[in-house]
Order: sequence, then structure tokens, then C-alpha cells
Amino acid sequence: MIKACIFDMDGVIVDSAKYHFLAWQRLAADLSITFTEEDNEKLKGLSRVDSLERILEKGDLQLDNDTKLALMDQKNQWYLESIKEMKPEEVLPGVREFLVSLQENGIGIALGSSSKNAQLILEKCNLTTFFKSVIDGNKVTFSKPDPEVFLKGASELNVSPKDTVVFEDAIAGVAAANSGGFFSVGIGDAASLTEARIVIPGFENFTLSALQSIVEDQQNN
Ligand code: BG6
Ligand code: MG
Repeated sequence: MIKACIFDMDGVIVDSAKYHFLAWQRLAADLSITFTEEDNEKLKGLSRVDSLERILEKGDLQLDNDTKLALMDQKNQWYLESIKEMKPEEVLPGVREFLVSLQENGIGIALGSSSKNAQLILEKCNLTTFFKSVIDGNKVTFSKPDPEVFLKGASELNVSPKDTVVFEDAIAGVAAANSGGFFSVGIGDAASLTEARIVIPGFENFTLSALQSIVEDQQNN
């Protein structure tokens, strides 16, 4: 039985993944490092610092801590600039309706995001009231693929991972959900989210009853 759902934010609730990509690409270009969409796919779900480390590794560049902090700050300023005008209309199709139906059916709702900007985006999109628990990049010690972010959410909602569905668009996020014992639902491309229990393209026309029957079917097999 599904008692709760935990949502990743970037790429699941809002299409902010493209803004992260553009900001990292701009930073990489400044450092003369090529950064493609394929490289970006591997960064999805990772914390800001882990993302920077991967980019520097790709460019075979070693930098001191102060420089790294300054680069992360610069990337975040560019990112904040691009989400400045974010509006509730930018919530991905079907998400709000799905959240409403969870709420109406007494299913717990939490956010499990690596982002330190999660609270800001929820506010801009008028989504804060849906989430009983918000675990973001400011509240975890270990970032995805570590399951900490989702385990904290489940614990705040007082539910067990086995009764909880996690929605994720990132390989690292799906791995985090699986290792925490959650039912992972990939959002996006089935070819890259191979470890997810199921993959759906998004929330448009996706219903709670469809989710319940998929989970029941899988649990009976
Ligand atoms: C994740 C994104 O949700 O948050 C990553 O998938 C991003 O791309 C990470 O790097 C950290 O976000 P922020 O907003 O704290 O820089
Ligand atoms: Mg994501």
C-alpha cells in the first residue's frame, strides 16, 4: 500500500534541469572544459560541489578550495538569474493535479532534492503547501546516490520506505531510492533510467490509481 510519495525537484516538478546545464556549461567554457548534454546527464541529482568536482576531473584541473567556492558561487548566481522569473506555470504538466490527488487521498508528500535552492523554487511555483516535509541540499550530509535525503523524508513523514514511492529523473537519484528500499519511479527516458522499477514520461495523464495498480502488480511478482 502506498502511504507516501517523495519527489525529486529539478527535472521532476519543474524543468530547472536545463538551467543547471546552461550555468555549468558556461562555467566549464570559462575554464576551457568541454561540457556536453551527455556529461550533464551524469551530473543530474548530484550536489553542487560534486558536480563541480566532476567537471574539474573532466578537464583534469586541480584548484584550491577558495577558487572552487568562488566558482560554485558564480554558477549559482547565473542559475539564480535564470530562475528569477520562474512562475507557477512552469510546474511540469500534470504535477499539480497529481499532488492534489495525493493530498485528497491522504498520501504523505515530501520533497527530496539535492538543491540548496529548493525552498525558493517551491515558493516561486506556489507549491510549498503540498509538502509536509522538505529535505534539500541544506539538510543532508551525503548527497545522492546516498539514500539519506529520502530516508530523512520518510522519517519526517513517519512512513517506511517500503510503503513509499520516489519519483526521480536522475540516475544517481534512482540509485539513492533503490538503496534506501523505496519503490523508484523514473521520470523521463527509460533507456537511461534502467535501474528504476518503472519509468514514466511525466505526470501528464498519470493518476494515483494507475500508480497504485503498477506498484501492487510489481509487489505481487
Ligand atoms: C539537483 C540537480 O537537484 O540539485 C543538480 O539535479 C544540481 O543538477 C543540484 O547541481 C544542486 O543544486 P543547487 O541548486 O544547490 O546548486
Ligand atoms: Mg532531478
